[in-house]
This record gives sequence, structure tokens and C-alpha cells, in this order.
Amino acid sequence: MIIGNKKINPPIIVAPMAGITDYPYRQILREMGVKLIYSEMVSSKGLVYDSERTKELLDYKIRDNGYINIQIFGSDKEYIIKAAKIIEKDYKPDFLDLNIGCPAPKVVKNGSGAALMKKPKILEQILKGLKKELNTPITIKIRSGWDKNHINAVQIAQIAEKTKISAVVIHGRSREQFYSNTVNYEVIKEVKDSVKIPVIGNGDIVDIKSALKMYEKTNCDGIMIGRGIKGNPWLVKRLIKYFDDRIYLPKPSVEQKIEMAVYHLEKAIEYYGKEIAVPKMRKHISWYLKGLKNSTYVKDHINKLNDVMKIKSTLYQYKKDLK
Ligand SMILES: Cc1cc2nc3c(=O)[nH]c(=O)nc-3n(C[C@H](O)[C@H](O)[C@H](O)COP(=O)(O)O)c2cc1C
Repeated sequence: MIIGNKKINPPIIVAPMAGITDYPYRQILREMGVKLIYSEMVSSKGLVYDSERTKELLDYKIRDNGYINIQIFGSDKEYIIKAAKIIEKDYKPDFLDLNIGCPAPKVVKNGSGAALMKKPKILEQILKGLKKELNTPITIKIRSGWDKNHINAVQIAQIAEKTKISAVVIHGRSREQFYSNTVNYEVIKEVKDSVKIPVIGNGDIVDIKSALKMYEKTNCDGIMIGRGIKGNPWLVKRLIKYFDDRIYLPKPSVEQKIEMAVYHLEKAIEYYGKEIAVPKMRKHISWYLKGLKNSTYVKDHINKLNDVMKIKSTLYQYKKDLK
């Protein structure tokens, strides 16, 4: 798959996930071999007003031979373009993405995220403006539509193609569905059939089987993985190995999961410092331990700890107990 003039092979992409795909986790995902990774979404207004938190979201140092797509959200053309120009100048990403899929009430109430799907004319103006003012290839990430009576992903993808957008990611659910029900593969296929630019299928890819299903049902050019990587960065490595060589790598062992939890904690501390890293890491540690024997007790215990040494020793003791 080629986006802009960059080759993304195999076309396996890690989704933007606010609060999850931060800099420390992106480093781990890079180590697993992922070529294209998105930043967490960044507010265009926050960026224009110079918010520190927004800048932290943009941080990336490790690029290896990989690519970064920085995603912005907003509703106002002027702010979106100003923010995109700041990103282009100061961060020089490989791609810039506009979020047209976020369902969160606080985002859509301002006309941003999935709410932009309801305003195709305004969206067209924003995309035209971005193309006119920037050199970085622009991509968009959309949903199937606003609700079941307004499924207009094809219309939005065609606007994207017309305005020279480089690729469309489509999550096969409407805004109304948030993350419920199953993915609508049919609408992803319709989008794929309606444009020539690369179409990336997204939704419910959690293993090789579901990745193959996305390809088979939609004929998409690439796939994007979101929640499947929670506590499971190995998923990208397994998918890449499968699509490169048709080889099924073994699933991570219990020991590897616990060691990864510790490694991830260390990476987070290195980046944020202990005070910020520990609370941020609680959810990640829970995800690494999910489904392991007697893990509920260990997770509850870790959730009460603030001392890094104690968290690590609890994890190491648990690893011993499991043996
Ligand atoms: C916690 C969380 C945060 C997310 N943050 C973003 C975001 O910042 N930008 C975005 O476009 N999508 C965001 N998404 C949506 C995902 O990128 C993806 O489209 C969605 O989870 C469906 O894919 P999946 O079934 O593989 O998880 C988020 C999803 C979750 C669960």
C-alpha cells in the first residue's frame, strides 16, 4: 500500500487511541515492527493556544524506519489549518490525519470528530484548505456515518478523493454505535469500491483470523488495529509475520506478558517520571494480566500501590507463583 509516496508493507497500521498509544507505548509497538503508527488525537485549538499537554501528545523521537501520522481534531477550518501548519513546521510528520470519527460527547458537541460527517460541505472546505496550505500528505479517519439513518461514508470518501486526500481509514460503525454491535464490513467494502485512493479497514481486528476477515469481506488496501493491542503489542508482530511470510508466531507466554508489563512501566517512568507514570500504567498492567490465573487479586493489589519497587516485586512474585 502506498500513501503519499510512502510504501507501507505489510499494510498493518496501529490506530490512534487517546490515553493508550502515547509515546512510551508507541516505542514498544515500534519494537514490534509496526511501520505506520498514529499519534493520539491532538486538539487543533489546544495546539494553536500552545497547550503543554497537547505538545506532549505530539512527542515522538523514535522513528526507526517507520512512519508517524499525527492526528488532529477540530471543527473550525482556521484553527485546523493553523494547527496543521504548526505540526508540519515543528514536528515534520510523514502524514497528517483529520479525525472525523471520534464519538465522545465532549468532542461532537463542538462539531468535531464524528460530527463532521454530518457537515460534508464544511468538511470539503476544510480538506481543500488543508491541501492548499500544506505539503504533508493528508489522511482522514471516518466512521460509517452518524447513525443508522445517515450512513454516508461513501460520500465522505468521495469528497476526500476529490480534494486529493491520500488515504481514508474507515471504522465500520456509526457514531451512534460507539463501540457496540459488530463491524459493518459492507460499508467498508462500498467505500473501497467507490474510490481509488487507499482504503484502510478498521474495527474488531484482534487476531490473524479477524484480520483476514477484514480483507476478505471488504477488499481493503490495509488494516488498522485499535483495542486489539491493549496489553498485546505482540499482535502487530504476529500480524506482520503472517502477512510477510504466512508464519504463525507463537502467542506470548505468561512470563513474557509479565516482563512486558515491567518493561512498559519502565518506559513510562523514563518518559513521564514516577508520579505520572504509575497511575497511567495501572490500566496497561491490568491488560497485560487479563485472563491469567488469579490475576484479579494481583491487579487489585497493584492498583493500590504507588511505589514502583513494590509494583515490580508484586509482578515478579506473581510470575514465580505462576511457575
Ligand atoms: C480508548 C480509545 C481511544 C481512542 N482514541 C482515538 C483517537 O484519539 N482518534 C481516533 O481517530 N480514534 C480513536 N479511537 C478509535 C480507534 O482508533 C478505532 O477506530 C476503534 O477503536 C475501532 O477499532 P478497534 O475495534 O480495532 O479497536 C479510540 C478508541 C479507544 C478504545
